[in-house]
Amino acid sequence: MTTSPAHADGYVSDVAYLPGYYPFMAPARIRYVAALNGVRPPAGGPGLRFLELGCGFGTTLLALAASNPAGEFTGVDFLPAHVEHMRREVAATGLGNVRVLGTDFAHLPTDLGQFDIIALHGVFSWVSPETRESIFGILRRHLAPGGIAEVTYNCMPGWASLLPVRSLIRHFAARVEGDSLARVRAALAEVAALRAADIPLFHDQPLAAQLVDRLLKADPHYVAHEYLNEHWAAFDAADVIGMFAGLGLGHAGRATYHHNHVPLCSPPQFGPQFAGLDLAATETLKDFHINAMFRWDLFSATPRETWSPAERVAAAPDLHFRKAIRNATLPHTVKYGAVTAGLAGPPHEELLGLIGNRGWTFTDLFAAAELAAFPPADIVEAIDLGVATGLLRVEGGPVIDPIPPLESIAPGSLDIPLPFNRRALVRENLANEQVALASTLTGAAHEIGDLHAAILDELTTGGSDRLPLRLADRLIAADKHLREHTTGRPITDRGELVHACQEICGEFLATVLPELLRQGIVVRLED
Ligand SMILES: C[S@@+](CC[C@H](N)C(=O)[O-])C[C@H]1O[C@@H](n2cnc3c(N)ncnc32)[C@H](O)[C@@H]1O
Repeated sequence: MTTSPAHADGYVSDVAYLPGYYPFMAPARIRYVAALNGVRPPAGGPGLRFLELGCGFGTTLLALAASNPAGEFTGVDFLPAHVEHMRREVAATGLGNVRVLGTDFAHLPTDLGQFDIIALHGVFSWVSPETRESIFGILRRHLAPGGIAEVTYNCMPGWASLLPVRSLIRHFAARVEGDSLARVRAALAEVAALRAADIPLFHDQPLAAQLVDRLLKADPHYVAHEYLNEHWAAFDAADVIGMFAGLGLGHAGRATYHHNHVPLCSPPQFGPQFAGLDLAATETLKDFHINAMFRWDLFSATPRETWSPAERVAAAPDLHFRKAIRNATLPHTVKYGAVTAGLAGPPHEELLGLIGNRGWTFTDLFAAAELAAFPPADIVEAIDLGVATGLLRVEGGPVIDPIPPLESIAPGSLDIPLPFNRRALVRENLANEQVALASTLTGAAHEIGDLHAAILDELTTGGSDRLPLRLADRLIAADKHLREHTTGRPITDRGELVHACQEICGEFLATVLPELLRQGIVVRLED
């Protein structure tokens, strides 16, 4: 178990956090959002310097390092259990572009150098004001000119009706002996009883009741780190934007794509409410419309500019756009809170018809004969709306398209080139975790479920012969039970299990494996 750091400053430090991959931290995504908002992003190529403060087990940091082998990645965390895990993984995967610093923010070496991206996820709201000052000092000293800080935090108004849940958990946790995990478990049991009794707190505040329902299913390590820290704050966006302005850093966008577009946050009749507002007021008003409780914000010293399409392209020419939804069709409709938005007609039809599974840069799209009827500004707008509505994805480079046809797969005919990915398959063997596999083509990780990871491991070692039977045997050996779709009943009969495995393997071969081949995570060797 973890030894507590000397300078925990009220942060829960007697239990570890939990692993998790966060695609919002991928450099290509951060750079796209900055460019979308007229902020010139740092170059994305070789030498990109990335620092994560409070990186936990480093799931995201290490996956991004493996995906961007020409970049340099540094992770800081003060919990020994996290740091030891990262060091073990770095050694086991041979990642040569990762530096792990086991220290608290206040004692970071001052000769760290400068970084193009400094990310803090799950830190800013959960630490003391003094620790936030240390973070500001790090940003002042180590964010390179033109660099971007990514900061996540709890915000208002979404937390307003949820605050009693936090108080209640802390109330019960304070009355129990034991480590943070034992205290959080005991507290949740008390809160669960109140929820089951539908006391007025939950009856009158359905969002608080829903939160409790989610927490009862959540990993208690998460609950401990979210709720038991002595210091905790849900900010108004304007206040955070003000704090960063004090560092000379302006707001450069939100990593949650659609939140960058006022019409996707607020219904059209409220458009006039936003007229003439400054950035801080706009962001805060958007949060009221969407009842935001969490934000992924970018900050940069580089001012926002209004760009022509050519300038927008020049700011990040390497970004590639590709269909995010297999078999996507138009109209493509999304519902975000009170907003329903749809994409249909030109140029979306022409764009979607063209774009397929290949990644396209803006420059490629401007030159495409199929889009010749549309001015570049319309193409840029259609791409941005496609990204904001989840129709398109943004990547740091081109993927492989077309991919080779796959009929049967002989043993040894598929390879997983990155040691990081080979280790991820073995490490997460049926552990109920998503498995983040690094793609050096996209510069980000791609997550697959643990069952799919087990199938991939089977396929690369033994080929596709008798694959469902082998998967069933593997599940039995790991004492892992699949559940029947509709009833949730555990499948115990072997025949039924093999049938379920046939379905899962079929789905893997039809959808998951092609995507892994496209992203170069799996490659086909000559049979
Ligand atoms: C909620 S976790 C988030 C971890 C990771 N970023 C993620 O999203 O999975 C916050 C992390 O910040 C680290 N942390 C908190 N205060 C710190 C400090 N003063 N110095 C260094 N690390 C700190 C904790 O150990 C923890 O791993």
